[in-house]
Amino acid sequence: MDAAQTALPIPAEPRRLRLRTAGLFAGIGGIELGLSRVGHATVLLCENFEPAQRVLAERFPESPLVDDVRDIERLPEVDLVAAGFPCQDLSQAGRTAGITGERSGLVGEVFRLLDSAPKDPDWLLLENVPFMLQLERGEAMRFLTSELSRRGFSWAYRIVDTRAFGLPQRRQRVLVLASRTKDPRPVLLTEDHGVVNTEGTPGEVACGFYWTEGVRGLGWAIDAIPTLKGGSTVGIPSPPAIWMPDGRIVLPDIRDAERLQGFPSGWTASSVDDPSRRNGPRWKLVGNAVSVPVAEWLGRRLVAPTTVYDETADAPLEGGHRWPSAAWGGPDTRVHGSPVSTWPRHVPATSLADFLEYPTTPLSERATAGFLRRTQQGRLRFAEGFIAALRRHHESLTAQLETV
Ligand SMILES: C[S@@+](CC[C@H](N)C(=O)[O-])C[C@H]1O[C@@H](n2cnc3c(N)ncnc32)[C@H](O)[C@@H]1O
Repeated sequence: MDAAQTALPIPAEPRRLRLRTAGLFAGIGGIELGLSRVGHATVLLCENFEPAQRVLAERFPESPLVDDVRDIERLPEVDLVAAGFPCQDLSQAGRTAGITGERSGLVGEVFRLLDSAPKDPDWLLLENVPFMLQLERGEAMRFLTSELSRRGFSWAYRIVDTRAFGLPQRRQRVLVLASRTKDPRPVLLTEDHGVVNTEGTPGEVACGFYWTEGVRGLGWAIDAIPTLKGGSTVGIPSPPAIWMPDGRIVLPDIRDAERLQGFPSGWTASSVDDPSRRNGPRWKLVGNAVSVPVAEWLGRRLVAPTTVYDETADAPLEGGHRWPSAAWGGPDTRVHGSPVSTWPRHVPATSLADFLEYPTTPLSERATAGFLRRTQQGRLRFAEGFIAALRRHHESLTAQLETV
C-alpha cells in the first residue's frame, strides 16, 4: 500500500482552524506535508540545500521559498513557526551564550525572527534528535529552554517514536512546542497509548541493521529498520541493510525509504537529474526528514479542542537534572518531567518484509565482507543465526563472482 493511502483522512475542519505556517529549515517538507494533510497551509519555506529546494519547489509550488534563514528580514504573519534546525547548531549557540551572553548560530535566527515578527505567532515548533537532550551534559537544552522562558514562552517537549504511527522504522525525535499565549501541554502531552512491543523473533521477521557499523555498536531493529540517517560513519549517507526472513541480506530501494518516512514514493525524485543514481543526495534528504505522520498527528492536536491539562503525575525537576523523555516549563523557569510515553497512539504496523514494495539490492560482497570483519573486532553479541546468514550471503556472492 502506498504511504499516501495510509494517511489518516483529512477531517472536515472549519477553515478558520487552519494554521498558516512558516517552515524554516524545511528540508523536503516532512513537517509541512504532515500539516497540510490536516488542512494547515505553508505560507513560507526556507531551505538552503539545492537538492531539497528542488523538492520543495515541486511539491509546494504555492509557497514562497527563501534560500537562507539569515536572509529573512521579517516573518510574514503566521500562526505557527516550524523549525527542525541542525542539532550541532544548538551546541554552538549554547557555548557562545555561556561565554559571551550573545545569541548566535541558526537557532538564534529562529529567536531573531520571533522577536521581530509583525504578529506574535501562536505556536513555535522545534524538532530535533533526542541527542539534543544530552548535548553538553544537558547544557544545550538548558540554553534553549531558558531562551524560551525569558521570552515569556510556555513550552513542552516530548520524544515521539515513528513506529507508533504504523511505519516499520525505529526513529525517535524530540518535538518542542512553545507558545506565549497558549498551553502546549494538552497538545503535546495528553494523548498517550504507551509503548507497544511490536518485535518478533530475528530470523522469522525482517531485521534492519547498519552494515557500516558493527564494532562498538550496531544500529539494529527487529521487524523495522533502524533510524534512517542523513549521514553515516563512512561519510556518505547509506541505507541500512535488511536481513530478510528468507535469509537474504538486502538494501531497500530509496522509494521504500521515502515510504518508511511516510512520504509517497518518489517524493524526492526531482532532487537529482538522474533518479536512478545510487548515491545521490536522496538518502540524505530522506534521512534528515521528519516522519510525515508524526507532523500530521501534531497538526491534528494543534486544532483539537483544548482540554485542561492534568499535571498531578508530573514531577518538578531539580537543578542539574537530566532531561527526561518529556517535560514542560514556562516563564517562571521551573521545569516538570512528564511520564508520558513516546507512543502517543498505536497505528498497527505492517511487517517490514511485507511493507517493502520495490525491488531490493543484495548487500555487496565488499560491504558484507567489511561488516563481517568488523563484527569480529569488537565484543558485540548478535542475534542467533544473524552472522551465519551473513556468511551464507557472502559465500553465495563469492561463488557468483568466481563463475563470472
Ligand atoms: C534536520 S534538516 C530538517 C528536515 C526537515 N524538517 C524535513 O522534514 O525534511 C535541517 C535542514 O536545515 C537546512 N539548513 C541548514 N542551514 C540552513 C540555513 N542557513 N538556511 C536555511 N536552511 C538551512 C539543511 O539543508 C537541512 O535541510
